[in-house]
Amino acid sequence: MKASLRERRGQMSLGGFFHPTGNHVAAWLHPESQIDAGMNFRHYVDLVQTAERGKLDLIFVADTVAARDGNLDALKRWPQYMAYFEPTTLMAALAAVTRHIGLVATASASFNEPFNIARRFASIDLISNGRAGWNVVTSGQPAEAYNFNMDELPPHADRYARAREFVEVCRGLWDSWDDDAFVRDRKTALYFDPDKLHYLRHKGEFFSVRGPLNVARPIQGHPVLANAGVSDTGKEFAADVAEIVFTPLHTLEQAKALYSDLKGRMEKYGRRPEHLKVMPGFNAIVGRTDAEAEEKHQFLQSLIHPDVGRQLLSTELGVDLSSCDVDGPLPYDRIDVASTAQRKMLVDQAKRENLTIRQFYLRYAGARGQRTVKGSPQRIADEMEEWFLSEGVDGFLVQPPYLPGGLKDFVDLVIPELQRRGLFRTEYQGRTLRENLGLPRPASRYAKQSAVVHSPA
Ligand SMILES: Cc1cc2nc3c(=O)[nH]c(=O)nc-3n(C[C@H](O)[C@H](O)[C@H](O)COP(=O)(O)O)c2cc1C
Repeated sequence: MKASLRERRGQMSLGGFFHPTGNHVAAWLHPESQIDAGMNFRHYVDLVQTAERGKLDLIFVADTVAARDGNLDALKRWPQYMAYFEPTTLMAALAAVTRHIGLVATASASFNEPFNIARRFASIDLISNGRAGWNVVTSGQPAEAYNFNMDELPPHADRYARAREFVEVCRGLWDSWDDDAFVRDRKTALYFDPDKLHYLRHKGEFFSVRGPLNVARPIQGHPVLANAGVSDTGKEFAADVAEIVFTPLHTLEQAKALYSDLKGRMEKYGRRPEHLKVMPGFNAIVGRTDAEAEEKHQFLQSLIHPDVGRQLLSTELGVDLSSCDVDGPLPYDRIDVASTAQRKMLVDQAKRENLTIRQFYLRYAGARGQRTVKGSPQRIADEMEEWFLSEGVDGFLVQPPYLPGGLKDFVDLVIPELQRRGLFRTEYQGRTLRENLGLPRPASRYAKQSAVVHSPA
């Protein structure tokens, strides 16, 4: 293991993914989670400062532009993403209480205009001295369309085509001002050099944007771009524009395949493989011992309300289970297994193992089908080390099961173990998120020679 560490240069990148109360479906019922997390700013201050104490590269908050839709009998017991802060507003505030950590927020390319988004992320980058990141999403929930004058979402491919052009426009807008455009010379009464101001004059399929942006060039040149696409279109988008990919991965084999697939697609866009960091979501339940971690997991599992478990399975299997006995079998005759491969796989598994609905949702619901890794700090670090050294990932997006406790466990128990193994930094070395991730600063399309790293005052 250690020999291969020498072969693989560098250390892993780590982010913290903060679903308000935590990633486990029953997180809010845990007595140690922050019950009003989505609307509690002090909670986020505590989280981001804990993550910065652990030297994490970044924190990430997700977003949809609609409250979660579905069966209210279940949603009333699973409040995640029903009411919470808008992420860019939150990140701007968190910038003021941190110094090093990257601040990555989701914003939709389907339900925004590029000018607003370019301006917002440029501002966060300047406010935070170069720590902004944007998770570009195309928005997949029908309820989002209902808030933007539509009865249904535009087709998947159209949303990605729009996102491609959206990002292109934002990049152009971020280059509106050269890095040294602002002369600010009182003696000559010259504030900026007009030769260093550029009008984009973009006219494309989806957008017509003249520019320039009314914010200076971001400290990082462009904020860091992230994406979590799973589809082929999503992967192609990532290979073209993303610098971080959060796509979920379940096995090491799958991770290795996606890693080489994504990095292999980059050459045709003139990009180098090391300029994209694969950091999948990582659900870690940490205990001081394996037994303690197992106990924590079992406790969380015991908190899942049957209505929530049934509802999650109903959505996944495309059948209403609300009137079914949770201690009975699934109504196999009502499930259309032909519709998706995932559905068929789940149903085959339930039949093979003769699972009741409760047994099945307990397996599926906690992390919504994603893999959960439980154990002592050594066991968790072993797994992370193996995935990193085998080139399955460049790092992880840690999703604590409940917050703030789950993050504190990770920072206090797992981070020191990773540091002891030389797999993670002990101090921040870079000043910006880009520098910490080892990503290059994009040169301006107009002033290639100004690709120097900006020195904040
Ligand atoms: C870690 C992670 C975070 C995500 N965050 C968001 C988000 O904040 N908002 C959103 O609309 N979708 C989010 N998604 C969904 C993805 O952007 C993507 O749409 C989904 O994985 C399906 O892939 P596709 O777009 O290629 O079909 C996230 C997915 C993952 C795995």
